[in-house]
Amino acid sequence: MIDLRSDTVTTPSQGMRQAMAQAEVGDDVFGEDPTVVVLEEEVARLLGKEAGLFVPSGTMSNQIAIKAHTYPGDEVICEQGAHIMNYEAGGPAFHSQVQLHPLQGELGVFTAGQVEAAIRPDNVHMPPSRLVSVENTHNKAGGTIFPLEEIHHIAAVATSHNLHMHMDGARLMNAVVATGIPAEEWAAPFNSVSLCLSKGLGAPVGSVLCGDRDFIRRSHRYRKIFGGGMRQVGIIAAGGLYALHNHVDDLQKDHQRAQQLATVLVQLPGVSINPDAVHTNIVIFNLDEERGTAAQVEHRLQAEGVLCLALGKQMIRLVTHRDLTDEDITHANRAFQKVLG
Ligand SMILES: Cc1ncc(COP(=O)(O)O)c(C=O)c1O
Repeated sequence: MIDLRSDTVTTPSQGMRQAMAQAEVGDDVFGEDPTVVVLEEEVARLLGKEAGLFVPSGTMSNQIAIKAHTYPGDEVICEQGAHIMNYEAGGPAFHSQVQLHPLQGELGVFTAGQVEAAIRPDNVHMPPSRLVSVENTHNKAGGTIFPLEEIHHIAAVATSHNLHMHMDGARLMNAVVATGIPAEEWAAPFNSVSLCLSKGLGAPVGSVLCGDRDFIRRSHRYRKIFGGGMRQVGIIAAGGLYALHNHVDDLQKDHQRAQQLATVLVQLPGVSINPDAVHTNIVIFNLDEERGTAAQVEHRLQAEGVLCLALGKQMIRLVTHRDLTDEDITHANRAFQKVLG
């Protein structure tokens, strides 16, 4: 089966398994796992931040960040398709008692002007605006890259209103590889950044949340409260380190393969896709109703040996990743032609 549902389906390579098996470990709740310490320091350095915190998932990383930046009753400005808004099970309300203020973005990108307009005046009737969250790359919009220049404009607005900035950088390394802009530059305008190791980078588990020392000290306590303190977790941190050392450049291949899929899909009748919106490893397309629903097409593709994800009634998502081969892409494109051609 050719699995294009997500880059989270990647399994650890032989080299990664070896690194994990040989990892030096200790009790990380006591701060004594040397491999975790190395990973946290390395990601913090990569992102130009003072400190990092290894957590089990991207969801926990974002949720801890929201908790550490806000007070109950605050408002968090984000894009309407953001992962924190749609796919974290209402976490911001559940854990932090904050509400989200979604902005209507263009391919996941909103503007400094929209942020400025969304910031609440100091008025007793209104929730205090506290945090701006940017997702880069943006999952639901199709792996799109948030322009760095706009991020700088947004950060200027946020700073002038005393708002903090968080980046859900689950796939930040995809943006780094696609643009050539170093991770540190992407991260600079943000108070906190969450980076996932378990997506296209191919590690089995884990994300690292980075920020200044005080933010990470507070986040550490929230990780404990959320049940995310882990013991000899160097075993999995070693997978993350291996991914950072060996897998980053391979993301480029994922991006090329996403282009190959888009090139075929754009020619198919009843399929709407904007190839210019395929910036990284995610391809999103919409089906005209006469082609059937996304769920029906998902089933038909499955019968041809291809797994994809119905993201909406007429919307399908494909994600390329390191466990695919060139033959898989050729096979998948043939399946699209057969099912939709
Ligand atoms: C943009 C984004 N943020 C956060 C997450 C959450 O990561 P996890 O599945 O590790 O909780 C995902 C997962 O796909 C994601 O796409």
